[in-house]
Amino acid sequence: MALRTIREFGDDILNKRAKEVKGNSERIQTLIDDMLETMYQADGVGLAAPQVGILKRVVVIDISEDQSHPMVLINPVVVETSGEQCGSEGCLSYPGMSGIVTRPNYVRVKALDRDFNEIEVEGTELLARALMHETDHLDGHLYTEIMIGDAFDASDAEATKAAYEAAGLEYEEPKEA
Ligand code: NI
Repeated sequence: MALRTIREFGDDILNKRAKEVKGNSERIQTLIDDMLETMYQADGVGLAAPQVGILKRVVVIDISEDQSHPMVLINPVVVETSGEQCGSEGCLSYPGMSGIVTRPNYVRVKALDRDFNEIEVEGTELLARALMHETDHLDGHLYTEIMIGDAFDASDAEATKAAYEAAGLEYEEPKEA
């Protein structure tokens, strides 16, 4: 396994649509391992392949506190959404920054796991947010396109509080994906 360089906002690759993965290969398995290691090292809850410069539809997510529940989604498709949640969202490609983003509160996704078995994943709250954020990355979309107001420095307590207040929300700790 190896760490990969995370591409940051302003890099064109983050605005491109990633291509479907056609079949299993050593290269894809290595990519998955590297993405997991890179996500964990950066303390993120999700990472999409374009963020490490690979235009393939591969996503890793782990919303557990102790990095113990890795989820691998190949060619994920959002098949159902419902409800609404509004809160802060960050991105490993825009380190340190957050924005207030409205997302569905429930999301169901069809995908292949890393063994290329068909799976369905459903989630609410943070998992729903991560599923939307990462599948957006595969289509070249970033949270800053849909955030309410401006991005703010998540380490600046005053700026963070102001952003929450402006959106009429209670404060919660931002996460990056
Ligand atoms: Ni992101």
